[in-house]
Amino acid sequence: MTNFQRYLRAKRAIDDRSLDRRLVGLLRDRLATRAQATDGPVRILEIGAGVGTMVTRAVEWDLLPAGEIHYTAVDIEAANIDALPRHLREWASDRDTTVSTGEDTTASTGDSIVLDTSESQITVEPVVAEAVDYADQTATAYDLLVGAALLDLLDLDQLDPLLGCLAPGGCYYFPITFDGATRFRPAHPADSEVERLYHSHMDRKPGGSSQAGDDLLARLQQHDGGSILGAAGSDWIVRPADGAYPDDEAYFLSHILGTVETALGELDEEITVDLDDWLSHRRDQLDAGELIYLTHQLDILGQIDG
Ligand SMILES: C[S@@+](CC[C@H](N)C(=O)[O-])C[C@H]1O[C@@H](n2cnc3c(N)ncnc32)[C@H](O)[C@@H]1O
Repeated sequence: MTNFQRYLRAKRAIDDRSLDRRLVGLLRDRLATRAQATDGPVRILEIGAGVGTMVTRAVEWDLLPAGEIHYTAVDIEAANIDALPRHLREWASDRDTTVSTGEDTTASTGDSIVLDTSESQITVEPVVAEAVDYADQTATAYDLLVGAALLDLLDLDQLDPLLGCLAPGGCYYFPITFDGATRFRPAHPADSEVERLYHSHMDRKPGGSSQAGDDLLARLQQHDGGSILGAAGSDWIVRPADGAYPDDEAYFLSHILGTVETALGELDEEITVDLDDWLSHRRDQLDAGELIYLTHQLDILGQIDG
């Protein structure tokens, strides 16, 4: 497991706290209705799926309808897709879910993984691919498209080909879409400049945007042929309790500080604050169990016209 996969696994508990439960409930209802109206399996495409934490969450939270589910998990990084089966197996090892290996469905994918719960059979097909390319080229009409913590990394001009993979009446769910605010606390004099530079780095990456959440909301609001069912904040708040961080959240924070360090190191503009001082200050606070981290994000759920 690389550092990034450990980060994704640590992130799961933070996302769990943050995801808007009203939207989760709405999505559960829509999927149940869809399953009743469908003869075959309910088909889900998750893009930017990482190591599969949304799959395990969906089972734990009874998000998926009873019956047969086909879940395609696409990520551009082969290392994430390679780690996905192990993540599912480890997660299932102390639960009432059995895991088996399914068939190798196409040449571009590895073996599928079959999760059997008391009510559903979920066949997870891991695929290494670029999200928009995959959504644009797939022959499958999906009932649900999921992109968690991803839409701030994609070019939102590509929304039409992305949504084009949905069947009439299908839903999209884009939770944890970054939306313009990063805060580290306690306050440090360099905070505003570090935040500005960090966001500027996001804006310069191809397809990246530090304002993706509200941009996505505005675009989906105007999208012909569908409607938004709900939008809500899903801010991350990572804080110590009694001087310590729960689970692997200290690792999550150390990864975030490393991401800020790398991002600012890649900028070609002059950095007028003492970044080394800021970073060592933040890392000392992390070691002492004093660092607080907040970000603003949006969850958006919608449906294509039937
Ligand atoms: C912030 S991570 C979120 C992962 C996962 N959705 C989660 O919440 O744990 C973003 C993921 O999207 C993947 N990714 C980034 N750009 C992508 C693209 N254009 N197509 C497919 N996957 C992409 C990355 O490899 C990474 O796994």
